[in-house]
Amino acid sequence: MNFPSSIIKISDTLWVLDESTNNCYVAGNKIRKLNGIIPCPFRHKGILSFGSPYSSHLLACAWWAAYLKVSAVGVVIHDGQLNSKDYPHLRAADLMGMKLVYADNSDARDIISREKNTHQDFLWIPGGGHTIDGSLQYTQLFDDLFKSSIIDKRITQIVLPYGTGTTAHGIWVSAIKHGIKVIGVSVARSKSRCLDALKDVSPYDSFDMLHIEDKYHECYGKRLDRFEKRRSEFFEMTSILVDPIYNAVAVTHMLENNMKNVLYVNTGGALNNLL
Ligand SMILES: Cc1ncc(COP(=O)(O)O)c(C=O)c1O
Repeated sequence: MNFPSSIIKISDTLWVLDESTNNCYVAGNKIRKLNGIIPCPFRHKGILSFGSPYSSHLLACAWWAAYLKVSAVGVVIHDGQLNSKDYPHLRAADLMGMKLVYADNSDARDIISREKNTHQDFLWIPGGGHTIDGSLQYTQLFDDLFKSSIIDKRITQIVLPYGTGTTAHGIWVSAIKHGIKVIGVSVARSKSRCLDALKDVSPYDSFDMLHIEDKYHECYGKRLDRFEKRRSEFFEMTSILVDPIYNAVAVTHMLENNMKNVLYVNTGGALNNLL
């Protein structure tokens, strides 16, 4: 499937690749990653994966399963009581027909094994779509954008949120060929955990020009005033309301550091604006 995406020039120093427009209703980096992960023709009975209650990935899996007219099961990992109605992505995944199974961090491994065992004819997708095939989707997108000269020559750095790092890695593989630095702003993991996750999928073992900023990694899911202020500022500049969980953090980093000549990648997650 083709997922067209466009770059918008905001000023002489800021451009935005808006992945929240790459598909109607459920858009974003997870939809694009799955485009590389889901085989075509699809011969499985369903899709099985896991994520957090904020997960854009589970919603993207639910969308793909609905599109392919197969079943979907999502294991939601969360400690303590949870009402899926409080989480727009879970709610939408449920509406699209995904069966949600809940697990604490302590029993997640067992519950995932049980679900894998019960659904052996389902396609198993690692959390966040963290695979080299998912990452390659971003390398291809950026190779195409560079080839068609859509990326302005003044751009020296690309900024985006960093979860598992699949998206940042894919972009980096393309950007490094053009001498452009990639800055991934980690929302949940320390730098060493980010690097470990990268090494799980990458054919490379060193990552020059890929900078991982982890100073916000303990703030996952926290609606700090600082993030909200920068999210509003970015909205006034661009008319794009970024999601409060991932992009609000990366946008804060970019604006607080007064970064110039940036291509900002809005990775989607827009329904979390209903949180
Ligand atoms: C909206 C959004 N942006 C970014 C990310 C992180 O992407 P990646 O796992 O490719 O680093 C996620 C999910 O983890 C997400 O939901």
